[in-house]
Amino acid sequence: MKLLVLTSGGDAPGMNMVLYLLYKEFGKNLYACRAGFKGLINNDILPISEFKPQKYARCAGSCIKCSRCPEFKEEKWFKIALENAKKFDVVIVMGGNGSYKGCQDLHRNGVRTIFIPSTIDNDVTVSDYSIGFHTAVNACQEMIENIMPTMEAFDRCCVFETMGRNSEKIAKCTATSQLCDYLIASKDDIDYPKIAEIVKNNHQLGHSSCIVMKEKLMKQSTFISSLQKLVPEVEIRGTVIGYVQRGSKPTIIELEYAKFFAKLIIKVLCTKDYSAAIVYKNGKFDILYQKDEEIISCNREKLEKKIKKQNID
Ligand code: F6P
Repeated sequence: MKLLVLTSGGDAPGMNMVLYLLYKEFGKNLYACRAGFKGLINNDILPISEFKPQKYARCAGSCIKCSRCPEFKEEKWFKIALENAKKFDVVIVMGGNGSYKGCQDLHRNGVRTIFIPSTIDNDVTVSDYSIGFHTAVNACQEMIENIMPTMEAFDRCCVFETMGRNSEKIAKCTATSQLCDYLIASKDDIDYPKIAEIVKNNHQLGHSSCIVMKEKLMKQSTFISSLQKLVPEVEIRGTVIGYVQRGSKPTIIELEYAKFFAKLIIKVLCTKDYSAAIVYKNGKFDILYQKDEEIISCNREKLEKKIKKQNID
């Protein structure tokens, strides 16, 4: 079986562990596209061993490189990518929601695909977890824990901006840190008088304040200057947490999740010949097999078999 893997969109800590485990299992039969769908269009495909996955297993990033590839949605480029994809028995796609859609397009056009949710944003509709999310939240909380002591020394207020694109999940989970005083996960949460009251009270008690804000809601500097007008007595600072969310070393839990995802890819490849997505749903790993347009959950399949058996018995 000739397999192809690619990592698409933003890289996510844990991707490299999956790549290494697939390499360990499939060796010479596994090829990699350099830089996601872009590599598929350019036919930039090499045996994965060329990218030395064994060297990077426990590191963040993606040793086979990532890219954002809007061209993939254009018919002209998609056709070329499809031709290259068809040279393989299976194409394994790791990425976020956009990459899932791209993967579905390949499947609909006759390519057998396996999708693994991998993005710090955790925004893949079919899965409750995507590789990279735990590490990203951990990096945010660590940053807060390392910055707040100096804020506390001056009774200052600090506004932390998290990543997540359109998803509130990183901000929400980061704000579960005991140090967070206020969460701005959506525009509706920007209630200046309410936030000023919290900051003022903390200051009067001789304490700092910590505000967590999701990216892309408004410019951090604009938010700070508006809040500052209501609490001139408090010094307000801002920190954009930034790329440590993607570049941090995967947490142990992340690596464990990555191992489960990899194990299930191997299981799918060794047992069935459908396209599939490996997901984590309602506290369980699951395989969503795709028979043409219909998606069948492995857990559902098991349940149906059990019911059938009980009826017969
Ligand atoms: O998709 C992951 C992500 O890190 C988002 O959270 C963020 O908005 C975006 O990528 C940043 O993209 P870039 O690396 O292109 O700046």
